[in-house]
Amino acid sequence: MAPLSQSIAVLLQEPDGRPVYQQIAAGIRGAIERRELGPGERVPAIRSLATELAVNRDTVALAYEALASEGLLESAVGRGTFVRAEQLSSPGEPASLELSAQVDRLLALGDARPRYGAGQDVVALHSLIPDPSLYPVQDFRRAFNRVVARDGANLFVYGSPQGHAGLRRVLARRFGESGMDVEASDIVLCHGASQGISLALRLFAGEGDCVAVEGPTYHNVLGTLAGLGVRPAVVPMTERGPDLAALERVLARPEVRAFYTIPSFHNPMGITTDAEHRRALVEIARRAGKPVIEDAFEMDLRCSGRPMPPLAALDPSGVVVHLFSFSKSLFPGARVGAITARGRALEGLVALKHATDLSDSLPLQAAMAEFVDAGDYDRHLGRVRRALRGRHAAVTEALEEHLPPGTRFTRADGGYQIWVELPFAVDTRDLLADAARVGVLFSPGSHFLPDGGPSRCLRLAIAQPGEDEIRSGVEALGRVIRARLEARPLAGDGAGVDL
Ligand SMILES: Cc1ncc(COP(=O)(O)O)c(C=O)c1O
Repeated sequence: MAPLSQSIAVLLQEPDGRPVYQQIAAGIRGAIERRELGPGERVPAIRSLATELAVNRDTVALAYEALASEGLLESAVGRGTFVRAEQLSSPGEPASLELSAQVDRLLALGDARPRYGAGQDVVALHSLIPDPSLYPVQDFRRAFNRVVARDGANLFVYGSPQGHAGLRRVLARRFGESGMDVEASDIVLCHGASQGISLALRLFAGEGDCVAVEGPTYHNVLGTLAGLGVRPAVVPMTERGPDLAALERVLARPEVRAFYTIPSFHNPMGITTDAEHRRALVEIARRAGKPVIEDAFEMDLRCSGRPMPPLAALDPSGVVVHLFSFSKSLFPGARVGAITARGRALEGLVALKHATDLSDSLPLQAAMAEFVDAGDYDRHLGRVRRALRGRHAAVTEALEEHLPPGTRFTRADGGYQIWVELPFAVDTRDLLADAARVGVLFSPGSHFLPDGGPSRCLRLAIAQPGEDEIRSGVEALGRVIRARLEARPLAGDGAGVDL
């Protein structure tokens, strides 16, 4: 008896409640999965297998039919039955679907990301998730209960694509206090600033276009661009913000459709541009006729220094689309953000939001409006800003004390990001494993570069650790950096990479 017939015969000796034809099919399916039967190989003729197994020919024919409908076998008239060269997946087996080229690029980007082996006691200087111990969960719960008691089932229908009118009014008032000339009807609520970024990019750019981004920039924007098939055009960052001469050149290129920028508490650099730089930037965009996507994700996190007007407040012509989020100043889990735009851009955003997901969660937006209106948000901001002032002081002091002379870093007036530039040639990706071993995590600079190239910079985030943890984390990081500095070959500096 041939080996295949033998293994099926063994199966048939152990009845499992399934019809015989299904057991025969299972035996052949198993042989194909184990590659005992290869693609293109002929399976036994119905008559001979039926004889060997001592079953009716119709039973074997039924088994072959079942396997053919699963895409595993195919018959060629007069030649017999074969294992399909290109097998269709069987039901229940994960199908190997071909993804779009854009998503393949997105997955490749994800593979290149640093993997953090975060243990329990590690100082998380890499994480931009605000400290959960500061979340005003009980106040938010009470706000939620009040709006549900007040509005009942009306809150549990589909909202309009622009979102809860009460929250838009509350936000319009707050944006107005920062200098923006905005009404509730100019705002589209969205699923965090992330959805704001995605909608704003889709508003202006499509497959094959370019969007100008800062180098370095928020890494997830690079992913969003890849997913859309849009290429980044890099505007280098200086210590004052994006290089305006470079911006002018980049925006003059016809394929560049918009500029994505983070003017306050830049991620990853932590810097905030001054009013003069902001005015000049808006004027360059206006002259080029290209929109600016202003990511103001941490606009409520100023803890010292003079408030700076958003780009949208310096924009009489309507080139700026402004993004806001509660994620970093309150908590990210509610996923509440807002986009402000004017004219055709606003119309386009409303249509895109509707086409994307109809609307967001009304109960959460209503609770957020109530939470802000009741003064809970401002009370919370007071606590966060106090904590942030202490953390900025701690990180500045620790960096001055523990990093090698010549190290440069941002002294930010708010937000969570501090950008550190080491005074010697090194790719900070190579320091990650050593740092994790001594209990501290950071984000290497390459993570934020559109080309993913090496960088002697790194980003620290003070969203999670308290002051003591920040001090011990920076001290540990300082030890790792100094050890690397001392281990460097002295001649030629060939071991590292200069930026
Ligand atoms: C610059 C920037 N924009 C937007 C976001 C996303 O925010 P959200 O949680 O509102 O989607 C982040 C998150 O880290 C960010 O760093």
